[in-house]
Amino acid sequence: MPILGYDAIEFYVGNARQAAHYYRTAFGFDVTAYAGPEHGIRDRCSYVLEQGGIRFVVTGGLGPDSPIVRHQATHGDGVKDVAFLVPNAEEAFAVAVQRGAQALAEPYVDEDDHGKIVRASITAYGDTIHTFVDRSNYSGVYAPGYHPTNHQVPAEATGLQFVDHVVCNVELGQMDRWAKYYADIMGFTQLHHFDDEAIATDYTALMSKVLWDGDGRIKLPINEPAAGKKKSQIEEYLDFYGSAGVQHMALATDDIVETVRRMRANGVRFLSTPATYYEDLRERLDWTTIDADLDTLQELGVLVDQDDEGYLLQIFTKAVQDRPTVFYEVIERHGSRGFGVGNFKALFEAIERDQAERGNL
Ligand code: FE2
Repeated sequence: MPILGYDAIEFYVGNARQAAHYYRTAFGFDVTAYAGPEHGIRDRCSYVLEQGGIRFVVTGGLGPDSPIVRHQATHGDGVKDVAFLVPNAEEAFAVAVQRGAQALAEPYVDEDDHGKIVRASITAYGDTIHTFVDRSNYSGVYAPGYHPTNHQVPAEATGLQFVDHVVCNVELGQMDRWAKYYADIMGFTQLHHFDDEAIATDYTALMSKVLWDGDGRIKLPINEPAAGKKKSQIEEYLDFYGSAGVQHMALATDDIVETVRRMRANGVRFLSTPATYYEDLRERLDWTTIDADLDTLQELGVLVDQDDEGYLLQIFTKAVQDRPTVFYEVIERHGSRGFGVGNFKALFEAIERDQAERGNL
């Protein structure tokens, strides 16, 4: 199945106006389009946010009977739709359904003066969906019904460039089912597999499989909890989200130091990393091949991992809404196609410190 990339990631939130403001001021996304009652859409407000090649849509419902409001009541703010850009939405939908995907919306066409856009949706883990989008014949902002937001204050970009991967948490025993789903329906293959030996601390254990499209445009790690001494971070997510769902999105930059400096200055909160992690790194990694200043990385809390293909720099935010569910990763890759397995232990211990603070460990 040909997939050209992520089209957009749509969130259902409690207050789209304020969510849009957060992503503009904190993450540096421009608010590029809006749809809502002012333009005849009665049941929702949606803001489109763009930076580099990343497009988010934040949507809020306007009444108690709205499925958007009900979704938000169940899950809190979260990702509803991981939409894929495809050359032909009818064909992508037909192939997916024929291979076993559950249809949610048959192909439909929306048109305005700027052309037409064809979309169709299938269900995925939890209440999450995938929409196939063909916008090759559309030149307007985002989609029919949306209007430019020229009055919005422009953002100061933080250097985020594209979505590197989108991670989901699924229930105990469900990882293989969802890995098979993406293999069967999208034709994805397994890039990595991490077992609970690789990903275990005193409290948390999890297993993860990474499915990808083969050329790196789409990478979808799938996590499931494994038995630990206490409640794992995956179980905490599932308890508070109320189902499987998107856990984190990794956003790529080519200058993580500058990106993280700006995001920190904007008030984004990141997980902290102990000094012992950096002492260990000086010994553990081959620094002759890494073009980064360890003191600066330590000052900002950026993690480093290295494998046969190269290295990567990464950092994780704290949860970005009230519930301990969705968070972000900022990543700068230099050859490595990995996910920072060498950092998992340090990372999870940092997450557990936060979890303990919330009384959930
Ligand atoms: Fe990640």
